[in-house]
Amino acid sequence: MHPGEIAFKENNLAEVDAGGKTICIGRSGSGLFAFAHKCPHASGFFVNGFIDALGNVVCPVHRYKFCMKNGRNVSGEGYYLKHWPVEVREDGVWVGLDVEKLFGLF
Ligand code: FES
Repeated sequence: MHPGEIAFKENNLAEVDAGGKTICIGRSGSGLFAFAHKCPHASGFFVNGFIDALGNVVCPVHRYKFCMKNGRNVSGEGYYLKHWPVEVREDGVWVGLDVEKLFGLF
């Protein structure tokens, strides 16, 4: 699937299936970012959160913030957000769920 075909909500977040695994895709500026769809704190669903002005994803439950690029918990609670590299290629969006290989989202 090409980036324009991902069903982003108005908050620029989408949940997608990547090889049978649900992940969250965030869109900020010119970039796409892939990360766990549930918050590492208490499993809030990021797709219902928002992206702040600095490009951090904000969990809808307790509002902890995470850098979509490197997974850092920038609001300081000490959690870490699992994230993966994204490549937009001619044939679609690819997420590196495995270090050894990239899996196509669609
Ligand atoms: S569940 Fe996400 S901040 Fe608590």
